[in-house]
Amino acid sequence: LEAFLTPKDLEGLKLIVSAGPTREYLDPVRFLSNPSSGRMGYAVAEAARDRGAEVVLVAGPTSLPDPWGVQVVRVESALEMREAILAQYPWAEAVVMAAAVADYRPETTLADKEPKVEAERILRLVPNPDILKELGEKKGDRVLVGFAMETREGLERARGKLVRKNLDLIVLNWVNREGVGFGSLENEVVLLLRDGRVLELPRMPKRQVAHRILDFVKEFWKA
Ligand code: CTP
Ligand code: CA
Repeated sequence: LEAFLTPKDLEGLKLIVSAGPTREYLDPVRFLSNPSSGRMGYAVAEAARDRGAEVVLVAGPTSLPDPWGVQVVRVESALEMREAILAQYPWAEAVVMAAAVADYRPETTLADKEPKVEAERILRLVPNPDILKELGEKKGDRVLVGFAMETREGLERARGKLVRKNLDLIVLNWVNREGVGFGSLENEVVLLLRDGRVLELPRMPKRQVAHRILDFVKEFWKA
C-alpha cells in the first residue's frame, strides 16, 4: 500500500544500493566481519523502489528477506562486493553505499579448517580496496552517497571522506548513541553535502531517513 501511495518522483532512476556487512574468511569456519544488520541499506532500496526507481541491491550477509521489486545480488566478501558493484556501475546513475565493508581481509583463505594454532601461524591481514573511492574516481555525472560511522570527530572525519571519495552526500551515523545505529530500527544522522550544507536530522525510523537521503539524490540527479 505504501508503495502505491508514494509519488513516483524517482521514476527511471537507475540506482545501486549496497547494504550489510562483508565477511572476510580465514578458513571455512572463521571470518572477520562487523555488526551491520543491513537495515539502513534495505530501507534505501525499498524507499527508492516505492518512488519508481530501478534498484539493484548488492547485499552482504544479512538476515533480511529480499525486498520485492528490487534486483538483489548476494555477496560475502569485499572483493565480491566490489566485483558486483563494478559490473552494474556503467548502467547506474546513482550509488548509495550503505554497506559496512570490512577494511581488512586475511591475506590467504585456507581451503580446510585447521587447528587454531595453524590458522594463527599464517594469519596476516591485508587492506581491502576502497570501493567507494574507486567509484568516485570514475564518477562521471553519477550521484554518489556514502556513509560514515563515527564515535568521535564525526563531522570532520565525515567531511574528509566526502572530499576524498568525491561524493555528493555523506550520511554521518553516531554509533555510540543509544537506540540508534547498528541493528536498530531508528537512526539519528547528519547529512553533509558537497556544497557545504549540513543537516542534522532528528531521530527517526530508517525508512524516513532513507527518504530524506533520496530527496538529495533526486536533487543532484536532476541537476
Ligand atoms: N567503503 C568502501 N570500501 C571500503 C571501505 C569503505 O566502499 N573498503 C565505503 C563505505 O561503504 C562507506 C564509506 O566508504 O559508504 C565510508 O566508510 P568508512 O568505513 O567510514 O570509511 P573508511 O574510508 O574505511 O575510513 P575508516 O578508516 O574511518 O574506516
Ligand atoms: Ca572503514
